[in-house]
Amino acid sequence: MGGPSVLHGLEASIAEIGRSLYERALRANPSLFDARGLRGRLAARALSDERLRSALFHFIDTLPQLDSAAEVAGHFRAYLGNYELGGLWGRVLRLGSHPALAGAVRASVQRVAREFLVEPQPSAIRRVLRRLARLPASATFDAVGEAVLTEQEAERYLQRNVELLELLARESNEPPAISVKLSALTARFDPLDRSGSCRRAMARLNWFLTRAVELKATVTVDMEQHELKGLILDTFFEVLEAFPHAGWLPGIALQAYAPDAPAHVERVIQFARSRRRRIGVRLVKGAYWDTEVALAEQRNWPIPVFLDKAQTDQQYELLTARLFDHPDVIYPAIAGHNLRSLAHAIAAARMRGLGRDAWEVQMLLGMADPLCKAVASKGIQLRVYVPVGDLLAGIAYLIRRLMENTANNSILRQTYAERRQLVDLLAAPHPAPVEAEGRATGFRNIPLIDFSDPKSAAAFRHALDAVRSGLGRTLRMNVDGTTDRPAGHHVCTNPASRDETLGVVEMASLVHADRAVANAVGAFESWREVPAMRRAELCRRTADLMLERRERLAALEVLEVGKNWREADADVAEAVDYLRFYAQQMEALDGWRPTAGFPGERNDLRYEPRGVAAIIAPWNFPLAILTGMASAALVAGNPVILKPAEQAMLIAAELHALLLEAGVPAAVCQLLPGEGETVGRHLVEHPDVGLIAFTGSREVGLAILERAGRVVSGQRQVKRVVCEMGGKNAILVDADADLDEAVLHTLHSAFGFQGQKCSAASRVIALKSVHDRFASRLADALDCYPYGPPEDPQYIFGPVISEQARERIERYVELGKSEGKLIYRGRVPQSGHYVAPAIFTGILPRHRLAREEIFGPVLSILCAENFSQALDMALDSEFALTGGVFSRLPEHIDLARRRFRVGNLYINRRITGALVSAQPFGGIAMSGTGVQAGGPDYLKQFLWTRVVSENTLRHGFVPPSAG
Ligand code: FDA
Repeated sequence: MGGPSVLHGLEASIAEIGRSLYERALRANPSLFDARGLRGRLAARALSDERLRSALFHFIDTLPQLDSAAEVAGHFRAYLGNYELGGLWGRVLRLGSHPALAGAVRASVQRVAREFLVEPQPSAIRRVLRRLARLPASATFDAVGEAVLTEQEAERYLQRNVELLELLARESNEPPAISVKLSALTARFDPLDRSGSCRRAMARLNWFLTRAVELKATVTVDMEQHELKGLILDTFFEVLEAFPHAGWLPGIALQAYAPDAPAHVERVIQFARSRRRRIGVRLVKGAYWDTEVALAEQRNWPIPVFLDKAQTDQQYELLTARLFDHPDVIYPAIAGHNLRSLAHAIAAARMRGLGRDAWEVQMLLGMADPLCKAVASKGIQLRVYVPVGDLLAGIAYLIRRLMENTANNSILRQTYAERRQLVDLLAAPHPAPVEAEGRATGFRNIPLIDFSDPKSAAAFRHALDAVRSGLGRTLRMNVDGTTDRPAGHHVCTNPASRDETLGVVEMASLVHADRAVANAVGAFESWREVPAMRRAELCRRTADLMLERRERLAALEVLEVGKNWREADADVAEAVDYLRFYAQQMEALDGWRPTAGFPGERNDLRYEPRGVAAIIAPWNFPLAILTGMASAALVAGNPVILKPAEQAMLIAAELHALLLEAGVPAAVCQLLPGEGETVGRHLVEHPDVGLIAFTGSREVGLAILERAGRVVSGQRQVKRVVCEMGGKNAILVDADADLDEAVLHTLHSAFGFQGQKCSAASRVIALKSVHDRFASRLADALDCYPYGPPEDPQYIFGPVISEQARERIERYVELGKSEGKLIYRGRVPQSGHYVAPAIFTGILPRHRLAREEIFGPVLSILCAENFSQALDMALDSEFALTGGVFSRLPEHIDLARRRFRVGNLYINRRITGALVSAQPFGGIAMSGTGVQAGGPDYLKQFLWTRVVSENTLRHGFVPPSAG
């Protein structure tokens, strides 16, 4: 279809259909815009007041989880107490803060929810079926729920769907229609583990679909967030293969806001054609627009949706037409509430002569009842999407609907609240010219690899193979100026497989260490004279080389320290960030800068390097921390000696090679693989080492601080120690916490990389009212994850670093059994250094499990009476590295901000994964020397300042100041 006259005819037809739909649809308002009383007043105010709208949604989001009247009143006051509505309604609003009115407030929100969500009782479903039959319209039902955390929840979701199917088969004259969300069918629906996720979802679907096919029920797969799209489509095509039954209509929702939607539409059409079977396509615009944009911006990924609404609307029309062109194999459902989009669909269907049975319009329950009536009155097949469930399960759905109704560019708002002119509402979408990306300038983190793209996953797999084929080499000891024999050999092994040797490293002796320091001293003079711009350039060049080899570096981490793919990639990305961030910072600090203006005198200050730096790094962030400390020292003008951890020497050797390849002189950057107790200690005590950057355990860190403080013969400067130590990090779970979020983020914070991050959570302090629920859900959620070699992406949890570490952690697990109650112990393979994850409850603040750093997958859950006590318990520790709070009460969040004094406090998010620049990272108290890495002040620790004051007065002549 095309050509100006056809298009003109189409537009004329849209205008005519649109007008008649409009006239009918305006006879009444959708319920949300028609509410009376307080609800109506609040809704009306919320449309014009962005902050009130946000406060209202926050309150509604919290409500399902609030048990007592006092809690409801407290949250009402916290979110809405500051808003003034005049007259009677203002007084009622103020009363909402009173516990006695909590019931009324809850009932009011329930009423809003019931506009969009049907109660799960058969009687309510019967009622809605009868109501729809009068329109007339049919229904597709959705047992609300998405992204489950445990397999038990997934099983319950399936069960609810089966019950719904049977109920509909009994109650309705038509074949049942159900919409399902695949992410609710398994707790691990992860695009990185495509085949496993697909298999798990299919295992549950098989049973349900067998029955659906028998009943000739239509089953439509809902589309979810962009990251899951590939996996959802793959699973959908697997369903089509597994259930080839003629006469059964499977369907998929496709989102027009995604620029790649046409490709998916074509894939479905081609498939349907090749199998000569009919497939339903529900065309939607897409429900996750705000989240997609925010997440992509946070992650620095390309934004996967259009940014101009007219582009979405235009693509919607193009895809409508495309679907209508294949009526023999596609059954289109045009889903939405936009007058123009619907009028276009009706006009396009008419132009093609499509009959009533060839397609249908779908709308969401409660969104646009008057428009439903108008469409039905035109003899168009109409189906209403009916979500079924309680408020707790349906809260995410409800919030999406409320946002959709009230967003500035929402068609419902424009039609019913703003009463836009008909010509505007029916105007053809005209996208504005694309503007250049308007993202914030300043430092930008390297985006992580998006493993939902199969090409990225394939490249990583390839890198793993390549790294493996190059393993087994011996890394020779090579310090210029000495041929001393190595002190020994270190065999590097894969922690996931005890017998696998990755390589052999010749270890440095003290002679090597002395020679390395002498070389560095010799190089210092010339290195500090290299302009800061040039040193920064070398860091950037190293970053570029690192990026070129990012998969290979990350693959080596997977094998050498047992990180999973995502964690290994994040470590490489962080290393790149440090190189670029410190380069940028050094450029800003470079050169003489005048101090305060002082007539007759010139006062200048400059930052200068301190001298030879020993970089003593840990194995848990094998590239990022070593690179961060080394690049800060180097770019500041200090020669470095890299003393990596024994468990991560192969990665360290890669970094060393990259720095030299980028052009850093060999004497300025030397690699000294050696034992901490001998070589590390020797460097710390060496009179010619002026700077020590250390990250590791508190025990070693304190010993370094002490030794570096002792002046030895021949020493010519006070040593500076930059020291990052461990933590005993606590997460507080408040009574009103969103438990879905708290469980998910605690799981990753406590067990990510097997709890071997200094930022990891090792204590949870849960309020009594949520303690048991939280603990059992966390245990069930953790149980969904098998442990295994992380080179296989189905495993996100792997081994601990060494046998020694394994034994130490196991001793803590034994201790925990006597101090508290072991409520969960996982299962692990025998082949490597695996520790089965453990969760304890009943731990008290005085117990060793609550006080000592374990550095393994062991979590203690403590119980607190109230938030203030929980905070006291969290602070009752010598460590103060990271902390977390899950709460939705603004007062508690404020209290935590003020009193929860740790280096990095995270609120309503996981407590690991700090990003350079955005979340400078490091501890205070006994967790570190208190200046965060990747922050504005870190680099200054590698520098000292010099000031020059010059008298410029000459016999009364005062020269002009130097600007
Ligand atoms: P309207 O014309 O107001 O469009 C709003 C939509 O435009 C937003 O939702 C967004 O998609 C898009 N948009 C908003 N701002 C934009 C901007 N600045 N730039 C570009 N685009 C912008 N959704 C989903 O993701 N998966 C699913 O499976 C389903 N299932 C479903 C079933 C049924 C029967 C219906 C009716 C709806 C869905 N939806 C859905 C929800 C659907 O995506 C949502 O209701 C529509 O996007 C609303 O579009 P309208 O045409 O009604 O409104």
